[in-house]
Amino acid sequence: MDLDYVPLGPTGTQVSELAFGTWRFGRETDQGHVEIDEQRAYDLLDAYEAHGGRFIDTADMYGEGQSEEWIGNWLADRDREDFVVASKIYWPTRPDDPNGRGLSRKHLRRQIDLILDRLGTDYLDLLYIHRWDDDTPVEEFMRTLDGFVRDGKVNYLGTSTLRPNAWKVAKANELARREGYEPFTLSQPRYNLVNREIEGSYLEMCEDYDLGVVPWSPLGQGLLTGKYSREGDMPDDSTASEGETWADRYLTPENFDVVEEVEAVAEEVDATPAQVSLAWLAHHPQVTAPIVGARTVEQLEENLGAAQVDLSDEQFERLAAAKAGPFERL
Ligand SMILES: NC(=O)c1ccc[n+]([C@@H]2O[C@H](COP(=O)([O-])OP(=O)(O)OC[C@H]3O[C@@H](n4cnc5c(N)ncnc54)[C@H](OP(=O)(O)O)[C@@H]3O)[C@@H](O)[C@H]2O)c1
Repeated sequence: MDLDYVPLGPTGTQVSELAFGTWRFGRETDQGHVEIDEQRAYDLLDAYEAHGGRFIDTADMYGEGQSEEWIGNWLADRDREDFVVASKIYWPTRPDDPNGRGLSRKHLRRQIDLILDRLGTDYLDLLYIHRWDDDTPVEEFMRTLDGFVRDGKVNYLGTSTLRPNAWKVAKANELARREGYEPFTLSQPRYNLVNREIEGSYLEMCEDYDLGVVPWSPLGQGLLTGKYSREGDMPDDSTASEGETWADRYLTPENFDVVEEVEAVAEEVDATPAQVSLAWLAHHPQVTAPIVGARTVEQLEENLGAAQVDLSDEQFERLAAAKAGPFERL
């Protein structure tokens, strides 16, 4: 069950059709337990590699640096050239330091060196800005990021945004075009069958500016696996159950309508709901590779099975129609 390679958006690099996300490596929950400890992290990376996975997603703040550190330890026993590694900068890394956050030249330069050091590599394949920084002029961070590409520390630039603020990315890429800077060629937004806010102007901007789309939280943080019920019973092992606001936002009647459509299609194609939800993203013409998240090896292996699931265009449309995108809601 090996994963195939697909082009990394408009770039010349090839990546696995499903990326592996490491947000939960070393991440402490509000209750103080670590979602994925070091040994589990290595087991997950081993399983991803065994299925042909070569596209790893991390960020400087995941597990306060432990995610990158563990990936670096793991990569040390392998050929770094076999892997495409993406990381991100923006969130505070030095809580009491006003310069220990954001996209200022000072913070970007400090963080890129820390990232490369923790990963034990000379270069990142892909660096995303984790969020937009309205306190730093766009000229400052685009020029600094361009310098990373010129210095060989980074191959490609991406933007990861929570809201569909498409015009800001367009403005940055216009500046890059004018000045001869490296533009953003990838975008990492939240996108899945229940979070559809990027449909409309954001996806149009990605198409027009030729940005590949690498969706995060492809399973709505577990909702689209079908493991939650309308009655509100939480599975005992779910870390999502600790977040009351997560439950308020996700466990809604209209989202359960989507889950039921996913379950119906899963029966038709003899797959699991998680696999169908991931296959829907993979089938999307603008999506490069969804970032699979998993807390256990069993979950990961189930999710990687999505690569074997083929949806018909009719099934793709039916799933898309289970929840209205923003335009239909107007
Ligand atoms: N750029 C950004 O701002 C941003 C933000 C978020 C994430 N990301 C990236 O995207 C990656 C994926 O995000 P995500 O973790 O939210 O993805 P997700 O796939 O939507 O959710 C993953 C969670 O769902 C549950 N789950 C996954 N597969 C399952 C299965 N087969 N059966 C049952 N439960 C399953 C697990 O949690 P439980 O077992 O605890 O329920 C798992 O931790 C991250 O690791 C990170 O790399 C980026």
